[in-house]
Amino acid sequence: LRSSNGVLSVALESSSQHVSIAGKDVRALSYNGGVPGPTLRVRAGDILNVSLRNGLTDPSNLHVHGLHVSPKNNSDNVFVTIKAGESFDYQYELPDNHAPGVYWYHPHHHGFVADQVFGGLYGAIIVEDPEEIPATRERVLVISDITFDSSGTISAATEMDKMTGREGELVLVNGQRDPLLSASPGERERWRVINACTSRYLHLRLDGQQLTLLGIDSGRFESARNVDEVVLAPGNRADLLVTARAGTSTLRALRYERGTSGGMMGGGTFSSADVALATFAVAGADTAAFAAVPDQLSPTDLRSSTVTARRELVFAMGMGGGMNGGMMSATINDRTFDATHVNTTVQFGSIEEWTLTNTSTLDHPVHLHVWPMQIIEQDDRPVESVIWQDVVNIPARSTVRVRVKFDDFSGRSVYHCHILDHEDAGMMGIIDAR
Ligand code: C2O
Ligand code: CU
Ligand code: CU
Repeated sequence: LRSSNGVLSVALESSSQHVSIAGKDVRALSYNGGVPGPTLRVRAGDILNVSLRNGLTDPSNLHVHGLHVSPKNNSDNVFVTIKAGESFDYQYELPDNHAPGVYWYHPHHHGFVADQVFGGLYGAIIVEDPEEIPATRERVLVISDITFDSSGTISAATEMDKMTGREGELVLVNGQRDPLLSASPGERERWRVINACTSRYLHLRLDGQQLTLLGIDSGRFESARNVDEVVLAPGNRADLLVTARAGTSTLRALRYERGTSGGMMGGGTFSSADVALATFAVAGADTAAFAAVPDQLSPTDLRSSTVTARRELVFAMGMGGGMNGGMMSATINDRTFDATHVNTTVQFGSIEEWTLTNTSTLDHPVHLHVWPMQIIEQDDRPVESVIWQDVVNIPARSTVRVRVKFDDFSGRSVYHCHILDHEDAGMMGIIDAR
């Protein structure tokens, strides 16, 4: 679905549907009957109208992940509750200087996010380039995971799943298992890859093919990089060019270790398993070569900016006790999410430096809404170059320092862990820019 004359108006309905996944008739959650939901294509300066009807039996709402839009009123307002059977009209206004790239949408009603995303509620948003990069075709690859029981119903998460973050048994690309993607040698494909998994990290490889990474999240590298692999934490996206070489390759997610239990829950290491995601078959006549990818403008480097405030956010997990008496606690600066409490007040227009510390034995992918971040230091080592990102992984027992510019929009929004079970357990805070 593409905007015309600067406007895209879509109706979305979430509901539980019969769908066919991996050759089985199962019941998943879906937007408009499909998994994933429709891809929305807009441009900087556009208005996106989404009328969402909640056909689920639980409350829901909609978040446009990564878009730099207002957090107020009927825009990207995660505090909206759409009750079962009710509707809400969203209006998102993209500023004229909005970064092109790949974004996505998913529900964001606290307490239900992991179940609803795991169940199948997500879709891609593409903010198109002002000048297209020449390619034979574009593919949007929404990668997600899900588990069904023998009756074809989505499996519920156990307490253990909630602590470590649930990973599905089936890893899907656009709702399919191991789809076949075909190309001819020499063709250049634009791949927009979204990690829509609830907790799984994707350590992606496509051996035998040439991968060129244009950017991550809303960020673009100054010049495109040839890479062998890309790691996407939950919520991250990659904008890739694949130059096809004759032969059949498998898009894989390699094993990724995302921590240990640190002695809790009987011990052990948690890793996302090695899985085949898709088959890329390249055969036939050669296509003429494409022109080199032009360099991009380098982003404003916040390392040379004046910082007006510094703060630290500590991400921690513990067992037992806790304020809500649950089995597990997932906190930021010792607090769990409280819809009535503003955790962080920032000055509109300012640049802040945040030290994100992870004291737990599991990685936490930290996500901030509305305002993108730049990593400036990782474990006390300065980074070589900066890029705008909205999900920054904080490996187990480590520290990452980021800078954020709170420009263009004021209002209340959130930051949280994008392992959505952690978010639902309370690892989320409210930020107010004013
Ligand atoms: Cu992708 Cu606050 O979420
Ligand atoms: Cu988001
Ligand atoms: Cu987490």
